[in-house]
Amino acid sequence: MINVAIFASGEGTNAENLFTYFANDTRIKIKLVITNKEDAGIVARAKQHKKTVQIVSKQALQNYTHQLIEFLNVENINLIVLAGFLLKIPHEFVSAFPNKIINIHPSLLPKYGGKGMYGNNVHQAVLTNNESESGITIHFVNEEYDKGEIILQAKCDVTLHDTVKTLATKIKKLEFDNLPKAIEQFL
Ligand code: GAR
Repeated sequence: MINVAIFASGEGTNAENLFTYFANDTRIKIKLVITNKEDAGIVARAKQHKKTVQIVSKQALQNYTHQLIEFLNVENINLIVLAGFLLKIPHEFVSAFPNKIINIHPSLLPKYGGKGMYGNNVHQAVLTNNESESGITIHFVNEEYDKGEIILQAKCDVTLHDTVKTLATKIKKLEFDNLPKAIEQFL
């Protein structure tokens, strides 16, 4: 059995897609959600799906890392999925879960990764640079931002007619299709 903890800071649409996808799965359970923002969309979505939500502030993530690790161990969490989680993960946390933390990023890494590159900032940069394709990357998390080993990538075309909004829609579709599959690879 794989018990998953989702870390999210935003709307939580990827998290919600996972709640639904794995709702009746006997091998993979989305057990709880960790967020640093108590008013983020993810909180309402998680509650709707009757998931436990734990608020962990930026300071708590840095100063009480050990306690968070303990909590996740007590809950038997064996896979952590960063789905739009915008804080840097402390080294101690990464070492506690080797090859058990994955992140989804809305570009074809190594392009458009690193600090400040999240959500629509990424899509805007892709359009500004007249890229003809973009996509998503699902990768392991290591000590460096957006640099861990790649698990999978999926691509979409970028056309002259694309806007941040249309590109975001294409990227979300790729994320919804591929993140559950990447998690299933851990079985
Ligand atoms: C997703 O598109 C995810 O790839 C991105 O944030 C969005 C979260 O949306 N992550 C990053 O940009 C990480 N650098 P959601 O909260 O609706 O799932």
